[in-house]
Amino acid sequence: MSQVTVVTLQKAKEKKDKITCLTSYDATSAALVDQAGVDVILVGDSLGMVIQGESSTIPVTLEEMAYHTRCVAKGVSHALVIADLPFGSYQTVTQALASSAILMKAGANMVKLEGAFVEVIEALVAQGIPVCGHLGLLPQSVNRFGGYVVQGKGEEAGLVLKQANAVVEAGAQLLVLECIPSELAGTLTAQISIPTIGIGAGVDCDGQVLVLHDMLGMTLGRKARFVKDFLAESGSIGNALAQFVSEVKNQQFPDKQHSY
Ligand code: KIV
Repeated sequence: MSQVTVVTLQKAKEKKDKITCLTSYDATSAALVDQAGVDVILVGDSLGMVIQGESSTIPVTLEEMAYHTRCVAKGVSHALVIADLPFGSYQTVTQALASSAILMKAGANMVKLEGAFVEVIEALVAQGIPVCGHLGLLPQSVNRFGGYVVQGKGEEAGLVLKQANAVVEAGAQLLVLECIPSELAGTLTAQISIPTIGIGAGVDCDGQVLVLHDMLGMTLGRKARFVKDFLAESGSIGNALAQFVSEVKNQQFPDKQHSY
């Protein structure tokens, strides 16, 4: 397997090959995900919830993200590694540049940030730091949204499209779409030039991401509609990872039951 780069992902969109992405927070799970042929590994700030037991991603610090990114990078030999910029670490251009440098030095190949922060994205790209945008439901803005609720319904769809175009214009090379109606995600994916990775955004995105713990059935509390337990069906972690890759590539996941 060759190294996955931003060029590989762009070509996948052009060839209509679906992109697979899972989160990982440690070297062992990252190695298993990598060996299963997953294209992209996201060191998500979801680690605040699944590793640290917090009720949101907001308490996660930059130092913690750098620690987990370093662990993940050690286990990976071919996947592209994305690290989340945590809440409060990209409020100004200067701060975003300094935070991203720490994550890139820890082993990330790309950083992800929530929202259409055009100036910040432009500055990062100008310094050679690839950026993944994140639109729709933004977990770091859960207090503003008043909960983990589907975004982009009805008239709000126009806002998501506008934000997506702004993020692309600013130079982002990948875009996560979280919890938006499938129809909107499909329209947006067809309109923009960069690959989209959906989570609760339907089968027409260019790729799919899930939190590793969720797809292995380790979900505590409320299970979101888009979560599928692949381990329950396949019986082993290796088989669950292989089934995820196969179902995403063949557009069997997500089905309507796991979409909005
Ligand atoms: O932190 C995370 O795991 C994420 C995914 C839900 C996309 O941002």
